[in-house]
Amino acid sequence: MIAKINNLLEEIDTLKASNAEELEALRIKYLSKKGAINDLMADFRNVAADQKKEVGMRLNDLKTKAQDKINSLKEQFASQDNTTCDLDLTRSAYPVKLGTRHPLTIVKNEIIDIFSRLGFSIAEGPEIEDDWHVFSALNFAPEHPARDMQDTFFIEANPDVVLRTHTSSVQSRVMETAKPPIRIICPGRVYRNEAISYRAHCFFHQVEALYIDKDVSFTDLKQVLLLFAKEMFGAETKIRLRPSYFPFTEPSAEMDISCNICGGKGCPFCKHTGWVEILGCGMVDPNVLELNGIDSKVYSGYALGMGIERITNLKYQVKDLRMFSENDMRFLKEFEAAY
Ligand code: DAH
Repeated sequence: MIAKINNLLEEIDTLKASNAEELEALRIKYLSKKGAINDLMADFRNVAADQKKEVGMRLNDLKTKAQDKINSLKEQFASQDNTTCDLDLTRSAYPVKLGTRHPLTIVKNEIIDIFSRLGFSIAEGPEIEDDWHVFSALNFAPEHPARDMQDTFFIEANPDVVLRTHTSSVQSRVMETAKPPIRIICPGRVYRNEAISYRAHCFFHQVEALYIDKDVSFTDLKQVLLLFAKEMFGAETKIRLRPSYFPFTEPSAEMDISCNICGGKGCPFCKHTGWVEILGCGMVDPNVLELNGIDSKVYSGYALGMGIERITNLKYQVKDLRMFSENDMRFLKEFEAAY
């Protein structure tokens, strides 16, 4: 019996396993119910009484050693797994490409950011509008050319339902519910019935700003315009205001900035004038305040509106407006580094 135990001890000492299946086979061979050690245990009752003590001790010792050996082989596997496995199971199965922001979104966010710092909050309105909010409430005379079929998309031959031609429609939407002081910017898409070319599209984007309070003057407007131009195009940017006409503002103006492509020296982009037009603005016409339920003797305000495509062109010199809506990845990828 003792000789058998010693043989098994030697055998166990030299055991090797190179994978989990081999290890399990060894466990079954030596330690399972039908294993070699259990067989010896069964023989134990045949051992002479005076040897039982010693044989019993050796048998127990054999069992512990076998168990220890199997455990240590198992640990070897576990540690091998850790050191040789370079799989990162948290990684996605596919390479994930992050998208880039659309240039118009980048510029829109920048405009929103500047006006937010001045206390303006965002207001939105529907793109499918009625005549009242797009035209009538903004003091457009019934025969005003902007209502003409050539500029405006009408829906279902119902001249009262239109695709908004400007974000100024959000002005009247806000005025009919909010009480002054009102300080909002309205970014959004607008539609005009234009032939599509490199410099015109049937839809584009605008940002409108409206401020109504007591004692708002043209000086307030001018300061906001100057600040906006410097924040958007750089501290050295100059502005100039030219008198203009819009039905909803009186007086009205158009704002030019010193051309930020040539620094005001003159280039093809500014048609060698050194100036480029970027927005329309003015003091809200008292008629508009009254039409929208605001007392024009108590309140005054200014409004301004700009095209996001125009500002984007100035910043990034995109020569063809159609690029903005073609989803050409090569074009969109160019804006990867912008935020
Ligand atoms: N709504 C005008 C347009 O689409 C832009 C505009 C001009 C907006 C003057 C204004 C403004 O708020 O005061 O051409």
